[in-house]
Amino acid sequence: MVRLLALGVISVALQLVFAAQPVPRNYNDRLYYTLHSPSGNHEAAEHTAQLLNARFEGKLGELDNHFLISVDRRSIQSRSEDDEYAHTLAAFQSLAQEHSLNKRSLNHISAISAIESQKPQRRLVKRIPIDTLAERQDPPVHENQSEEEAANAKPVTSWLEKPGAYLAMKSKLDIKDAGFDNQWHLVNREQYGNDINITGVWEQGITGKGVVVVLLDDGLDYESNDLKDNFFAEGSYDFNDHTPLPKPRLFDDNHGTRCAGEIAAVKNDVCGVGVAYDAKVAGVRILSAEISDADEAEALNYKFQENDIYSCSWGPPDNGEVVDAPKGVVYDAIVNGINKGRAGNGTIFVFASGNGGAFDDNCNFDGYTNSMYTITVGAVDRLGNHPYYAEKCAAQLVVTYSSGSNSRIYTTDVGKESCTDSHGGTSAAAPLAAGVFALVLSIRPELSWRDMQYLCVKTAVPISLDDDDWAHLPSGRMFNHQFGYGSLDAYRIVEEAKTHQKLRPQTYLEVPREPQHPQPIPDLTGHGHVDITKALTSTIPITADMVKAAGLSKLEHITINVDIEHERRGDLEILLESPHNVTSQVAARRRFDVSKDGFANWTFMTVKHWDEDPVGNWTLRIIDAFNPQETGKLIHWTLTLWGEIAVDMTGEPNHRPVAGALPTSTAQSSSETSATQSVEEISASPVATASQSDTTTGGTSPAAEPAQTPNADHIDAELETSPAVNGTNVPERIVSTGSTVAYIAVGSILILAAASIAYVAKRKAWAEKGYREPPMSNRTEGYEFDLFVDDEGSEEEEEEDDIDDGDSHAESPMLGRDKGKGKMVHQTGTDSP
Ligand SMILES: *[C@@H]1O[C@H](CO)[C@@H](O)[C@H](O)[C@H]1NC(C)=O
Ligand SMILES: *[C@@H]1O[C@H](CO)[C@@H](O)[C@H](O)[C@H]1NC(C)=O
Ligand SMILES: *[C@@H]1O[C@H](CO)[C@@H](O)[C@H](O)[C@H]1NC(C)=O
Ligand SMILES: *[C@@H]1O[C@H](CO)[C@@H](O)[C@H](O)[C@H]1NC(C)=O
Ligand SMILES: *[C@@H]1O[C@H](CO)[C@@H](O)[C@H](O)[C@H]1NC(C)=O
Ligand SMILES: *[C@@H]1O[C@H](CO)[C@@H](O)[C@H](O)[C@H]1NC(C)=O
Ligand SMILES: *[C@@H]1O[C@H](CO)[C@@H](O)[C@H](O)[C@H]1NC(C)=O
Repeated sequence: MVRLLALGVISVALQLVFAAQPVPRNYNDRLYYTLHSPSGNHEAAEHTAQLLNARFEGKLGELDNHFLISVDRRSIQSRSEDDEYAHTLAAFQSLAQEHSLNKRSLNHISAISAIESQKPQRRLVKRIPIDTLAERQDPPVHENQSEEEAANAKPVTSWLEKPGAYLAMKSKLDIKDAGFDNQWHLVNREQYGNDINITGVWEQGITGKGVVVVLLDDGLDYESNDLKDNFFAEGSYDFNDHTPLPKPRLFDDNHGTRCAGEIAAVKNDVCGVGVAYDAKVAGVRILSAEISDADEAEALNYKFQENDIYSCSWGPPDNGEVVDAPKGVVYDAIVNGINKGRAGNGTIFVFASGNGGAFDDNCNFDGYTNSMYTITVGAVDRLGNHPYYAEKCAAQLVVTYSSGSNSRIYTTDVGKESCTDSHGGTSAAAPLAAGVFALVLSIRPELSWRDMQYLCVKTAVPISLDDDDWAHLPSGRMFNHQFGYGSLDAYRIVEEAKTHQKLRPQTYLEVPREPQHPQPIPDLTGHGHVDITKALTSTIPITADMVKAAGLSKLEHITINVDIEHERRGDLEILLESPHNVTSQVAARRRFDVSKDGFANWTFMTVKHWDEDPVGNWTLRIIDAFNPQETGKLIHWTLTLWGEIAVDMTGEPNHRPVAGALPTSTAQSSSETSATQSVEEISASPVATASQSDTTTGGTSPAAEPAQTPNADHIDAELETSPAVNGTNVPERIVSTGSTVAYIAVGSILILAAASIAYVAKRKAWAEKGYREPPMSNRTEGYEFDLFVDDEGSEEEEEEDDIDDGDSHAESPMLGRDKGKGKMVHQTGTDSP
């Protein structure tokens, strides 16, 4: 008891001392674990640490219901690190069992639902293509189009045409930075209009004052004369070297500094200027070494009352093979930032769409970019073209300028007065957007994370209109999977923000479709044209009553959770068709994704249906037109419509219509194809009742996902504490499963036993289905970037498909213009560019 008290006193003292900064972690000497207490029971976490002979490190970052504990490596003795992790998890499980047998003795552990080991690993990569090869990598299709021609082709009348206008603008704004003339992304004097249209904003004195953008990156050179006056030390931290300031230390730690320069390079006489040159930038260093999920979670919420915008130019590897999403504490941190950051208005998370374009990668396979909580920003080059590297997806909101067509981004570099003209990739696009959002927040700080997204939707300017993926939407807007709603225009978004009326809170309507039997996905591999009417379809009807009951007045995001088994995941193309005939491509074919894992409860997202009337039939169409020997099945899917709550909504919204309240429907069938389609009766069923949803997923599931424990009280409590419609609150996920997580039941022995049986049965079912945890390839090895080298003039016949069989070259009918344009050349020594 005395020991417990003493521990408590010490930990309180430690918390006071280190209130301003995280307690530096020491992974060399200690092993770390997180404890999840859904009720946020600090005392229980502390007591559990003691029972495990571990040191209690306190709350994990800004998360109220996750705690960190650690064990001295020296106490491990002969056990290997992995054995030690397993040992602690087992010890936790036996404590939990002991508790269930003898309730009174260990009343505290019941408040802890899971323990997870926190082993540092490297699984995130910077999103900058290899500079030195940028020119070589430009797609040959644009090489016959000179910049001049492109400019002439675009009949833009610009203020720049007036003689002396450019110099007058510089003198009016007092810009003396010599490098400003190189910053075509700010003022493009060659291709009029192909820039972020910023000067009209600056001329109003809107320059980002009072807003902080934090770069989660590889450091920030706060000693640079171009950044030091705008550096915000209080919002900064180094999670790699566990020091207060994010000093770039490795030879290639220039990425964060370059991104920071794009946002807030000081208006002085060094290099150029930032988009929001009076905003502040903080640096949180996470990309220069392995980090644990706990560190990443803490970084994503770091000083989230002071840091307003989080600029993230990184993500899981972009090699076109990975399906990976933030899970557990990392996912919870993103949701926490949305609910609590910026005094409840929500952290603005900005993510680069990804650089895997050349590998058919698509930002809907990345759980950071396809999360509705993040603003996904893609790249467009100086000519307004989609660069070869930029990923497309239905979750991408906007694009902005970056490298391509022999031009790159000029910005600040590491060094007192160093500048660079070779920044690029989607890495360079996201910070420009973050800078524009800083301008918006400087005049409307109270806007929420959803308001910012809505402003993007409303004001982005469609470009490259000859691209045939542009769709005219019922809202009157246009959308393109490569460009989102278009190019971000600083002037337009700031003008719109001035009068924008803050959105009401978010609500959602979640409707599952669970066929009684898995539906086989017909193989459509043919010669030439693929008849998509023969693809597997599954329809969910949305009625006006359902929409009304959920209080959904205006549609914003749509998430689609799918459980699909397939022997070669990359073969699948998945479309969502709305009642208004708007088609979102949620999954695209990926040549290099040969995974047999399918999509195990993976969540896709689309922003293409923003403001559409949701009433009517929503159809999922699954097209498998490659490799006939490799097939799959649709197990189930869930459609979730998210949006603004109705002004006249009274009472509790009904987010999940129950069985019976829904009309049943069948897979659509057309006469000649019914043989390949399932015409099975599909009945809707309720979700998230405690007894049936005793599993969790690896995806970014939109709704509360109960953990392994089937204890109903526990689950209800969790849902109550995170109401879905209040403020910008969203339901919180409980905890993800995995080999390194242990769960305990909260209730009686009976419930524990039931849980074990259900869990074991479920595991068995997964094993039979060949289900594994969603892959996180290259987890520990880091990322070896496969270089893409163009082979001029041979893009048609050179599709490199040695892993495909010869018959698999049929074009995807919907969005199949992205043929392979070169061959893979394996390079070593160029990882993490
Ligand atoms: C570039 O060349 C291709 C093929 O030769 C042609 O189809 C295309 O129109 C050309 N583009 C321009 C802008 O000249
Ligand atoms: C760019 O900004 C100017 C004001 O500086 C504005 O008049 C113009 O309409 C903007 N461009 C677009 C495409 O909206
Ligand atoms: C949003 O921001 C405004 C201004 O910064 C603040 O007054 C308000 O409390 C914040 N939170 C919410 C939920 O509106
Ligand atoms: C959608 O397309 C179908 C057939 O192409 C057509 O019959 C229907 O009227 C369209 N619906 C809307 C809302 O445009
Ligand atoms: C996916 O989630 C559903 C419940 O939402 C569950 O029944 C199913 O077993 C899960 N599948 C996997 C592979 O986790
Ligand atoms: C929706 O689909 C069902 C059958 O799948 C059909 O009976 C119904 O007419 C469709 N509704 C609309 C609005 O198209
Ligand atoms: C939260 O929602 C409940 C029920 O919808 C409502 O009674 C309560 O006033 C809301 N609270 C806030 C702060 O909006």
